[in-house]
Amino acid sequence: MGRIIAIANQKGGVGKTTTAINLSASLAERGQKVLVIDADPQGNTTSGLGYEKNELEYTLYDLMLGQCGVDDCTFENDFVDNLDIWPSNINLSGAEIELLGVENREYILREAVNQVREDYDFIIIDCPPSLNMLTVNAMATADTVLVPIQCEYYALEGLTQLMHTVNLVKERLNSDLEIEGVVFTMYDARTNLSLQVVDNVKENLNQNIYKTIIPRNVRLAEAPSYGIPITVYDPKSAGAESYRMLADEVLNRGDE
Ligand SMILES: Nc1ncnc2c1ncn2[C@@H]1O[C@H](COP(=O)(O)OP(=O)(O)OP(=O)(O)O)[C@@H](O)[C@H]1O
Ligand SMILES: [Mg+2]
Repeated sequence: MGRIIAIANQKGGVGKTTTAINLSASLAERGQKVLVIDADPQGNTTSGLGYEKNELEYTLYDLMLGQCGVDDCTFENDFVDNLDIWPSNINLSGAEIELLGVENREYILREAVNQVREDYDFIIIDCPPSLNMLTVNAMATADTVLVPIQCEYYALEGLTQLMHTVNLVKERLNSDLEIEGVVFTMYDARTNLSLQVVDNVKENLNQNIYKTIIPRNVRLAEAPSYGIPITVYDPKSAGAESYRMLADEVLNRGDE
């Protein structure tokens, strides 16, 4: 049965999507069957994996509104074997309002994912930068929440609210939900700041912290414009190596 990991942090631009894309691709490269779900109306995971997000007949939005089935919105990736996606685009931003009043609307994604859970080893959900209904749906679906933290001065800001949301979802919607762990992103070895942030978070946050630290690597920022993950764009780059290491840690943690 697939392990479901939501990648969440309501802070914008911390590396959620980069992690969703490249962790998924690295797990797939290791022979794991992976589904990545783009739960962000920005659709960056969708475009970053090579899809024209505005030309898709069906997306997660249609699935959540009951306008298509899971098969209609499941796309095999052209560049990575073992990797499927449920894509999104700006339409998804309407879902929150349109689902108002719908019964059990916190469980809509979960019900869709339950239909395919057996087909995958991992299901990775990229969340939007807010603690909205889409993020709640992702957390209500997930086994664990993986939190990317950018190595910058305000790294800890907002983490209290994030942990509070995880706890609320755990109490009310998904008693099995756990924190998968924290992964540091955009680490710059040339600055003391990155090091200080890592030490500070380690001291203040009582959570699993992945040993792998994702470096700031320009190749990681370039890859999405070609619609391919780093493992394809520049397989030997520091960015690709780091996401492979993270994938191995995620795999090993599952064995514990
Ligand atoms: N390790 C890295 N090295 C260099 N650039 C990176 C790295 N990780 C992410 N970036 C770049 O930083 C920007 C933000 O990253 P990303 O889109 O993954 O964050 P996000 O948390 O998904 O953002 P949002 O909150 O808007 O969804 C992007 O331009 C991305 O290419
Ligand atoms: Mg994103």
